[in-house]
Amino acid sequence: MDFVKVERGENGVAVLTIDRQDKLNALNPQVVEEIGQSLLELESEAPRAVIVTGAGERAFVAGADISEMNSMSPMEAKGFAELAHAALALLDRSPVPTIAAVNGFALGGGCEIALACDIRVASENALFGFPEVGLGILPGMGGTQRAPRLIGPAVAKELIFTGRRIGAEEAHRIGLVNRVVGEGEALSAATGIAEEIAANGPLAVRYAKAAANRAQDVDIISGLEYEADQFALLFSTEDAREGMGAFIEKRKAAFEGK
Ligand code: COA
Repeated sequence: MDFVKVERGENGVAVLTIDRQDKLNALNPQVVEEIGQSLLELESEAPRAVIVTGAGERAFVAGADISEMNSMSPMEAKGFAELAHAALALLDRSPVPTIAAVNGFALGGGCEIALACDIRVASENALFGFPEVGLGILPGMGGTQRAPRLIGPAVAKELIFTGRRIGAEEAHRIGLVNRVVGEGEALSAATGIAEEIAANGPLAVRYAKAAANRAQDVDIISGLEYEADQFALLFSTEDAREGMGAFIEKRKAAFEGK
């Protein structure tokens, strides 16, 4: 792969880095394809969490590649959007938690990648925004759908309609990011969260993510039924016996994901 690097840590945490620094990690079809391919490979390896970040000090991802979009036909643009939808769905639908470590510009498609993750950590120099309408287009990598769901329609629409950039503190205040850390610390903070997750029962975390995702998709009665089923299913696992047994025996649980 030319633009995406994946490191698999012994802590069970995989770090996917988008690395196209001369273009501030802007997303052309090849970058998006590589993100999707890497996430698919990771899915079969079952890490405990996946972190997505951008290479270099300046940008997470400065958006879709405007120079390449400039010459796209409508059908090519549709294909690009669909490619991105499929790749980003592998983040929010990933069986394991995904965390964006936002280390600089997260504009357009960059903001949309962050939105597709379960958790977002931003360094204090991070800048978020949807500049698309200023280019005569709209956020086409899920922004019009995920931003209203995450931060509410009124705030999302203001950001999308104005194209205004906001800093990390404001992003935190409106619920776009979970945590703001010092410059250069986003990846280590995200790794800290991923390691906290990795200390828990892996099947429990997976089922909890699947259940929490349902909250966005179905009515509450159906969601609660799903939750009860997943809750019951976990009682068939060795992890549940180990986790509850360890509490009773006053020792640390050793989960095996079985
Ligand atoms: N698409 C294509 N190229 C991009 C890009 C994008 N989204 N974002 C940055 N780049 C390129 C620049 O063209 C420049 O390339 P060059 O050196 O070959 O000219 C390089 O990355 C560095 O960017 P530059 O604009 O010189 O840096 P800056 O510090 O002056 O500004 C930004 C940084 C992020 C404010 C500015 O690059 C920008 O506004 N980018 C576009 C953001 C955007 O609209 N994204 C949504 C697209 S739908």
